[in-house]
Amino acid sequence: MEPLKRLDRSVKGRAVLITGAASGMGRATAHLFASEGALVAITDINEAGVACVVEEIAAVGGTAHGWRLDVSDAAEIKRVVAEVAARFGRLDILINNAGFGGLSPLDSSDYDSVWDRTITGLLTGQQRMVRAALVHLRKSDAARIVNIASTEGLGATPGDSPYAVAKTGIIGLTRALAVDLGPEGITVNCICPGPIRTALTDAIPEEVKTIFAKRRTALRRYGYPEEVAHITFSLCLPAASYITGAIIPVDGGLMVRNA
Ligand code: NAI
Repeated sequence: MEPLKRLDRSVKGRAVLITGAASGMGRATAHLFASEGALVAITDINEAGVACVVEEIAAVGGTAHGWRLDVSDAAEIKRVVAEVAARFGRLDILINNAGFGGLSPLDSSDYDSVWDRTITGLLTGQQRMVRAALVHLRKSDAARIVNIASTEGLGATPGDSPYAVAKTGIIGLTRALAVDLGPEGITVNCICPGPIRTALTDAIPEEVKTIFAKRRTALRRYGYPEEVAHITFSLCLPAASYITGAIIPVDGGLMVRNA
């Protein structure tokens, strides 16, 4: 390999597909990629939200197109991934970010259905996205996959087992895919966000957020979606060519703080 000068620190002209891009970290990531000259596919189950983000990016001169995509729907995944690749003429980067929360105590009457919905939407959706995107990623000289898990994949909050299991599964999926796709030079990494200010955590009262952050994180505060987006972005640079299978907490030090 040539020395560092050959490494590329730009995503200009590269095509990126982001799931769950209508809100929170997905939206912040979409804005960042667009501002760096990437061709951005905004996908989300929330169609109105998709249109909004596409408009926001267009308003600042970026290139983005939108698709409604429910990552629980296998057929829709295949169709939308093919449409994105056709629209941009390429697909270099996949960011599996879509997600939803909701506690599900073990003795709740709908536990089984929450379990099925959570595993399908959070975990199965990510592997289906990867398999649908592979044919296109294989044509890229710097194919990148980033899977968004959670610190709930590294530990667990009471009453939230389907979510914790799905997020732990994403960590395993990342490692397995990194090994499977490594010989082809496709990198697969995983980010585990901690407490981040998005729609997912909106309902938590400010006071509760403050107490939690002060007690549990090293940085004593909640994070912002942009602080996760920047790490995701870094993992997708062509220059990020020797990191794969990494599980990276972006959690303000939540997982390292004991007291
Ligand atoms: P958010 O609620 O702001 O954004 C999630 C997006 O995913 C929404 O636009 C939603 O419409 C979309 N979505 C939900 N179900 C979908 C489906 N079946 N198909 C396609 N899109 C779907 O939440 P946030 O926080 O930005 O979440 C992004 C990811 O980060 C999720 O995977 C979440 O589990 C994860 N995460 C979030 C944390 C936080 O503190 N906010 C902490 C750890 C992980």
